[in-house]
This record gives sequence, structure tokens and C-alpha cells, in this order.
Amino acid sequence: MSESTARILALRAAGACFVLELAEPVPRVLHWGADLGDLPESGLEALALTGEPAILNNSIDIPRRFTIWPTEADGWLGTPAHAGHAAGTRAAPRPSLVGASHRPAAEGGELDVLLADPATGLDVTVTYRMEPSGVLTVHSTITRQQDAEPVPYDLAQVTTLLPLPRRAAEILDFTGKWSRERSPQRRPLGFGTYTREVRRGKPGLDSPYLVTAGVPGFGFREGEVWAVHVAWSGDQRYVVEQLPEGAGTHAAVLGGGELLPAGEIRLAPGDSYTTPVCHFAWSGEGLDGLGDRFHALLRSRPTHPRSPRPVILNSWEAVYFDHDLDRLLRLADTAAEVGVERFVLDDGWFRGRRSDNAGLGDWTVDPVVWPEGLTPLVDHVRSLGMEFGLWVEPEMVNLNSDLAREHPDWVLGPARGVGPSARHQHVLDLANPEAWDYLLGALDELVAKNGIACLKWDHNRELHEAVHGGVDRPVAHAQVLALYRLLDALKERHPALEIESCASGGGRIDLGILARTDRVWASDCIDPVERQTIQRWTAQLLPPELIGVHVGAGASHTTARISADSFRLATALFGHAGIEQDITRCTPEELARLAAWTALYRELRPLLHSGRTVRADLGGDATLLHGVVAHDRSAALYCWARVATSPEGQSGRVPLPGLYAAATYQVRVRTELGLPSFHQTSGPAWLPAALDGWLPLPGAVLAVAGLPMPNLNPDQALLLEVRRSD
Ligand code: GLA
Repeated sequence: MSESTARILALRAAGACFVLELAEPVPRVLHWGADLGDLPESGLEALALTGEPAILNNSIDIPRRFTIWPTEADGWLGTPAHAGHAAGTRAAPRPSLVGASHRPAAEGGELDVLLADPATGLDVTVTYRMEPSGVLTVHSTITRQQDAEPVPYDLAQVTTLLPLPRRAAEILDFTGKWSRERSPQRRPLGFGTYTREVRRGKPGLDSPYLVTAGVPGFGFREGEVWAVHVAWSGDQRYVVEQLPEGAGTHAAVLGGGELLPAGEIRLAPGDSYTTPVCHFAWSGEGLDGLGDRFHALLRSRPTHPRSPRPVILNSWEAVYFDHDLDRLLRLADTAAEVGVERFVLDDGWFRGRRSDNAGLGDWTVDPVVWPEGLTPLVDHVRSLGMEFGLWVEPEMVNLNSDLAREHPDWVLGPARGVGPSARHQHVLDLANPEAWDYLLGALDELVAKNGIACLKWDHNRELHEAVHGGVDRPVAHAQVLALYRLLDALKERHPALEIESCASGGGRIDLGILARTDRVWASDCIDPVERQTIQRWTAQLLPPELIGVHVGAGASHTTARISADSFRLATALFGHAGIEQDITRCTPEELARLAAWTALYRELRPLLHSGRTVRADLGGDATLLHGVVAHDRSAALYCWARVATSPEGQSGRVPLPGLYAAATYQVRVRTELGLPSFHQTSGPAWLPAALDGWLPLPGAVLAVAGLPMPNLNPDQALLLEVRRSD
């Protein structure tokens, strides 16, 4: 680490740029957005000169600045960097710069800015890291000074904020509910504060996920956008704020942090609080540009799963709680026949778990249903050449369990008694070291004894009244840290173990949990119509190989909609694929099609799990065109899907995103999954040739002029493969 001597520092990577001035008393951001190039000293100075705003009427008498640690001391009256007090005192922070260190890198680099604040008795280190992907990560550590008086400093809120320009005037974020996660919502950015607060003890089914502000009308392929994601698996807060006086020379701010429980973070001298990492990304190429950056970031992690993602069979929608060895052996046989590579036994295997109202917490195999333990099933699964995976929900407890009867004090909740159950369950107090040790021991033994390749880690209820200790001490923050420690400890003991973050399907998808898990279960809804949209938006942050996508029964268990095989199968190709239905009931034709699908997935997964995800802007939601294009643009797979009818008859020419206009390609329709049903008499003219085999077409036609696409009936999809031929 080198002490920084430069006054203005630029972190640049992959076309994104962040420039910070080590101004006194508090540094400020001069620029976050498009790369400004390798500016000479004079250029950086010019950026600083032009970084000073006007003094407005009826305002403070110096330029109102927006610093990296904004406080009222600068005249900043928006969301402050932090709020807190020491027993009702020290409530006017006045931090000032005491040092900085810069670790340059060929792409990006890292910068620590050190602030000290005698007024509050706090030291602050803010760390900016520009990743080679162009994602800027920011986190801060706040330390109560050693020589501060021994009154704890109550930290009420810490928010990481970066500036936005005036043109970022439209917000996109997400909401949702069970089986309808990551539903996008857009609104204009007005004056005032737009906040999204999550108090569910996990990001939730309505997680804001990625809050984006952009030039109005931004789409998948076009538009300038700025986005933030809070990498934290508990309560959180996102802010987009625009005051009439602006933010220094910027117009608005974007950021977030953990939503701190009142009274939990109390810093005695020497204590620290570290914020979650906020991931900021800018793109000049719309939402796909943002997605590219996050996918590159995740794929660059040393822990990113690199082995081929195995085809899964998950037992949930196949048998639910009806665990019967013979039935499951038959399910495993059929799974192996159609090409499944990992068999996952879902809920229902542990002591007393005959329905969802008992057993959680008792993590040993039920001796009644499984008199010989899981061994007969595990051995059989392995003998068929498949891996074995198991469902757990470690943070939860049913009051109807031996664990709750023996350790009622391990159940998280107030001294006056726990509140209402949800799905008949409560939450275990992970901050209780005995409860934590018990869980690690139980999980460790399960994994070791059964040679488990993968745990599906569920979390089916929210945290309410997250307090403990008989004195109602808040522990929502501690619960998340304890969860992270548990996952880390388990992975340390079993480095090959994979973990799936489930949480009712999609309720805990964030880059905090993903630092310790290997895929997410995107939604309990596997109705392909819903899944097209859920997967499209889950991919805004995660690359396909991290997103669990399963093919379910013809009649969806969550919506009762009946969909064609070919549509269900095509939809479940774009991610980490699996099957979730009782395939012992399938006809020979259905099994043959499933086998063709697993073969197609195996053939295409090297592309699907390494390429760039692209989504076309089609001006409506009735049809979707999405795909994955190899980084060198030599190959692609597209899915042309219709999820609803719409008034237009012709699609018009639709450019296939991501290809080189100057290259020559050939295209063909993949027919292994069956053809979609068409809402037209025939054509377009290119289609029969592409159904017969490879049809040569220039990149200019595919990528620029566009292909007229066939009109499909609703709930149908066509798979189009593209190969470069020159
Ligand atoms: C949650 C999960 C499902 C399934 C059930 C089991 O709802 O999201 O996939 O595992 O729990 O109880």
C-alpha cells in the first residue's frame, strides 16, 4: 500500500471511470461514469476546477459540496453518510481527511481514504475498488477511537452514496412476491428521496435487487445507466435522492447500505462496524451493459463454479413430503435414464418431517421413513453415476421439534414470547454460539456421512422481532454475520461442497450470499411464462450458470397453467438446468424429449455458461428475444418466445443482439425439443431453410437489418442457433 501523493486519482476499467479528489477537509467524487481517458494532470485539475458549484440564493455562503462522507457540516441536507450519537451527545459529525493510499492495477485499482472525526470520536476508512469488469465496489469501516470516552457510539445508519448527473432521470428497480420475483418497476426521478427499505431479515421476494437510474427510455441494449447493488443478505436500504440544490455539481445521488436495527451497532472504544459492499456500475450500453459487468465480476471470482453445471433432478414437485424409498429409487432410475447428473432430495427426509408443521431443527434422518438412513438412496444414486444433493433449512425451527423442546432459548424472539409463526416455523438464534455450534456439527456430519455434493439451503420465513437474550437485544445484523460464518465454516470443512441459496425461491439473492454459495433457486414458480420474465431479470445481476432453472410438469404447480413441453424445455435451458417433476409418470415420448433436452443442454452449456447474455428491446412484453453470445461472437443461441398474444401480426425485422455486422454467419433452428406452434400459415421465407439445416446469412442482415421472426402462439418458443462461418 502506498501513501497517495497525487491529489486527484482516477480508477478506470473496461470503459468506466471514477475520479476522486483528495480535497480538504473531505474528499469528493469528481466523476463516475464513462471513461474520460488517461487525463494528464492538467485535465484532472480542470475536472476539479469545474467540480465547484455555484452559490445559490438563500443558501449557505460557500459552495454547497457533496463529499464522500456527506454531513451537515458541508451544508449537505440530503441523506447523510452516517447518523448516530453517544448517549445523546456527539451528534454533529465533522470528519476530515487524514490520509489515503492507492493500490494501482493494470485495470482498475483500489483506494483507501482515511477520515478522522474528533467530534464523534470515530475514524472512518472508505475503500473504493474498481474491478477489471468496471464494477466499482465501495465499503467503509467505522471505528470508535481508542481514546474516546467509554460511552458507546450508537450507529443509527450508514449510507454509501455516489453522485448522478441530471440526465439520470428514470429509476428502475424490482419488487415481487412468492412465485413472481424480480418484477421490474419504473418511475421518473422527481425531487425528494426515493428509498427502498427491506426489513425481512433477507433481501426478500420483493428485493430491490439492483436499483438503476438512467437516461429516460433506457433499454436492454441502449441508454446510459448507473446502478447499485447492496451485497448483504439481511435488512437493507437503497436511496435515490434529488434535492433542488443538487449534490455539489452533480444533480442527485444513488446508494445504499444495511438498514441498521436501532441499538444493535454500539461502538465502544476500539470497536468497528464495516458496511456491506455496495456494488456500483455504470454502462453506456443499457441494461445488458450493466449485466455484462456484473457477470464478468462474478465469473472472475476464484470461487466461481467452473465445472460443467450438472443437470439436476430435484424431488420437491415430484414427491413433496411423500418420501418412500422405492418411489425415490424409481425416480432416480428414470432420472439417470434421461441424463440427470445430480439428484437432490428436497424437504421431508429428517426427523418428524411429514409435513411443513414439524421437524425443522432436527437434522438427522427420520428413522421411521428411512429405517436404513439415506444410504440406500445415496448409494443407488451414486451407482447410477449421479451426485447426491440434500435440502436443508438450517436457520429455521419448528416449535414442534426436539430441538425447540430442548432449547427453547435458541429460538429468536423477545422475552415476552415469540410472535406468530410463518409456515409453522420460527427462526433459530444464530448469534447464540451454542445454536451455531449445533448447526455446524449437524450439517458437517450430514455432508460427511452422505458424501453430499450440494446443499439446497432454504430460508422460508422472514425475521420478525429479531432480538434475543431475555432483554430483547437486537441481533438482525449479528444473525447475518453468523450465517456467513456458518457457510464459510462448512465450506472450509468441505471445499467441494456446493450450496444453493433458495429462500422460498428467489428470496435471498445478493452478492453477499453469493460470495459463499454456488447458485440460486430463482423462484418456486417454474411455469415457463412466468419464468421467462423471472429469469430475464434475475440475469440482470447473475450469469446463467448461477441461476437454477428447472422444467416442471405440463400443468404448473404454482399457476395451474398448462404449457407445451417444447416451451417448458426451451425456457429451462437458459441457466443451471434441472428437472422438477415426477418423471416416473412420463410417457416414453416425454422421456425421450427430456433425454434430448439434457443432451442439448450438455452440448450447449459451454456457451450458455460462459457467453454474454443479450436481451432485445422489442417495445412490449408479449414477445421476448434473449440469448447468449460467445465473447468472440463466433456462436450464439437465441430464444424467441411469445408469452402472450399481441395485436401485431408481423414482428418486423428483429436485429439479433451481440453479433458482428461484418462477419458471416449461418443459422439453424434447433428442433430437438419439438417445434413451437405457429400463429400463421407459413414462413417467414428464411425459416424452412433454417429448419432443414444451416442457412448462411451475413452479420449485417442478422445484427443490423434484422430477421423477421415467425408469429408464435402464446406460450411457445423457438430456439435459433448461430455460428460464424468466415
Ligand atoms: C421452499 C423452496 C421449495 C422447496 C420447499 C420445501 O418453498 O423454495 O423449492 O424446497 O421449500 O419445503
